Amino acid sequence: PRRRSASHSFARERRRASFPMKFNLFLSACGAASYYFREQISHSTWITAGCFFLVGANVLVNEFFLGGSRKYYGKTHDCTGDVVLITGGNKGIGFETAKELAKFGAQIIIACRSERRASTAVRSIRSYSKNDNVSYEILDLESLKSVHDLVDRLTKKKIQIRYLINNAGVAIEKSTTIDGFNSQFQINHLSHFLLTNLLLKRNMITDNGRIISLSSLAHGVGGADIHLDDLNSTRSWKRLKMYGNTKLMNIVFTNELSRKLLRIGSKITANSVHPGAIDTDFSEHVVPNPWIRWLTRPIAILLTDPPVLGAQSTLFAALSPDLETKSGVYIDNCKVKRPVGKAQNIPKHYKLMEDFWEVSAKFVGQSNVI
Ligand SMILES: NC(=O)c1ccc[n+]([C@@H]2O[C@H](COP(=O)([O-])OP(=O)(O)OC[C@H]3O[C@@H](n4cnc5c(N)ncnc54)[C@H](OP(=O)(O)O)[C@@H]3O)[C@@H](O)[C@H]2O)c1
Repeated sequence: PRRRSASHSFARERRRASFPMKFNLFLSACGAASYYFREQISHSTWITAGCFFLVGANVLVNEFFLGGSRKYYGKTHDCTGDVVLITGGNKGIGFETAKELAKFGAQIIIACRSERRASTAVRSIRSYSKNDNVSYEILDLESLKSVHDLVDRLTKKKIQIRYLINNAGVAIEKSTTIDGFNSQFQINHLSHFLLTNLLLKRNMITDNGRIISLSSLAHGVGGADIHLDDLNSTRSWKRLKMYGNTKLMNIVFTNELSRKLLRIGSKITANSVHPGAIDTDFSEHVVPNPWIRWLTRPIAILLTDPPVLGAQSTLFAALSPDLETKSGVYIDNCKVKRPVGKAQNIPKHYKLMEDFWEVSAKFVGQSNVI
């Protein structure tokens, strides 16, 4: 009975998710129709039709620049007995990913910084999935101590993780963590680097485990780069550039991790994911001004997909049998794709990958990370 109700809600969400795409197509069709009847219609109708065309044109933007309409992973799995640790699972893409994996019977641990937000999320994941094996752990990625504390608690509970999902991410203004690092750098990369390494060092990831890190298409736009001598971006700060840099770091980290795992004969895989342009609270980072956000909301709705679609590439990375032995790949829209920009050649830049790893290890005070 659980499976039937899950597929029912799946179909409902699929319909809801495809609404923006259908709406765009409708607008384009209206524009095309008014062009066809241009002789018979007035100027004002023409202007309206022009607007329709403009809005409908975002279909093209979506198809060609944002990776196309997002696909559903669409397969069901029995994940009974598998443990998922997901950072930032209390909202957005992480929350939807946790919901779907809970529906497949996995034990879910969401690692979040707010007890209140985490417990509310746990309740809704339980009620959506009818799976009570959902809990939270406190993790503030702005503190390396918090990462150590989480791993200590999980060690005591003898947790064995099948899917580690490094999901939490921000694009916030310049600020410094208690460890003295730039907040974006520490949340998006450094703390996840430490978390992954500690779990691996303590053999807390199962032999067939998968490590998935949420990157972004931003890794390849706006001149995103990795400056080993200035990872905190102290020399020239631009908020969104820093975000792109850290998302590039996610890919470089994943590639080097996969190489290291392969070298020690491990079957654990490490892959990175671009979830799509997704309508989550992340928009507060993209457009911090609430008024501009409110005014541009209709465009945002048209250009983005709902969070449930943002979870699909992570689900693909975690569950697809096609990826059982694939490691070090970048996934976008439930497909293995080539990253863009500087990341295209990353797999060949062993020196950069090794040096980046070394610097990160030094920053987190771990000399004998894997
Ligand atoms: N949305 C998009 O279009 C998009 C596109 C490409 C890539 N991504 C990537 O996808 C991932 C998820 O993004 P999203 O859209 O779901 O964003 P979101 O809705 O803003 O969720 C971000 C999550 O990260 C958590 N988080 C932030 N700072 C944290 C900290 N210091 N310690 C622990 N958790 C922290 C948040 O917890 P709080 O509730 O406590 O803040 C929240 O759970 C990010 O890595 C993002 O870079 C998103």
